[in-house]
Amino acid sequence: MAFETRELKEISPQALPKHIGIIMDGNGRWAKSRGLPRTAGHRQGAKVFSEIAKYCRDNGIRYLTVYAFSTENWSRPKSEVDAIMNLLAEYLSDVKKHEEENIRLCFLGEKDPLREDLRRQMMDIESRSAKNDGITVNIALNYGGRDEIVRAARRLAQECLDGKLSVQQITEESFSAHLDTSGQPDPDLIIRPSGEQRTSNFLPWQSTYAEYVFMNVLWPDFTAKDLDKAILEYLHRSRRFGGLDRQEKKS
Ligand code: IPE
Ligand code: IPE
Ligand code: MG
Repeated sequence: MAFETRELKEISPQALPKHIGIIMDGNGRWAKSRGLPRTAGHRQGAKVFSEIAKYCRDNGIRYLTVYAFSTENWSRPKSEVDAIMNLLAEYLSDVKKHEEENIRLCFLGEKDPLREDLRRQMMDIESRSAKNDGITVNIALNYGGRDEIVRAARRLAQECLDGKLSVQQITEESFSAHLDTSGQPDPDLIIRPSGEQRTSNFLPWQSTYAEYVFMNVLWPDFTAKDLDKAILEYLHRSRRFGGLDRQEKKS
């Protein structure tokens, strides 16, 4: 589906964010406000995710990263954690039926602590979709930014101990290459719906120069129009990366 907002239909593709991150928050509150169990919110949230991923693909966004389950979310009641993992299993078997969607799926976060059947499905889908070039969608699952940085540091340390790398070769570039997002561009725009204004351990390394857009809508209510709104807001920001605006450079 093409952009719904007229202003965006006319924008040059290079001006669009190449990589969008979304903290899919507010599922529980959405369910509660309807007198439904929290799981119903997660189910609706998963549906919205599928729609938004296709919308991004159709409109030339190259990378989308969604926060689905954090390393801190294990502290929730086991019943909720189990329900989220079951929904994920359902989603993954559904993805297999839609291989023509041309979406490359990747997972960020450590897979080892996850259920064996999930791990197998995740790896299977990562390899089966590797050649798809419509969009790369990263699902951050059992993901925590600090955990990711620690895992990268451990791998670098091991390479140093093994004599494959010198300490001097630890640079921002080699560090980035050891993160779960290795080889991918940093997010330009990070959207957090649900009204919370915090990052909750989402992509701390990669987001140093991302533009944040916080929105009051709950994730299960999030629509293509909301995404348009966030992109428009992004387009009006002045990104300086520590330098100066073009006009300021001249004066
Ligand atoms: C986001 O929705 C999904 C996960 C964190 C797994 P929440 O479950 O956090 O919903 P709220 O924030 O309680 O409304
Ligand atoms: C962030 O949401 C994690 C995901 C959306 C998966 P949380 O609901 O876990 O974040 P906090 O607890 O409000 O910071
Ligand atoms: Mg939440």
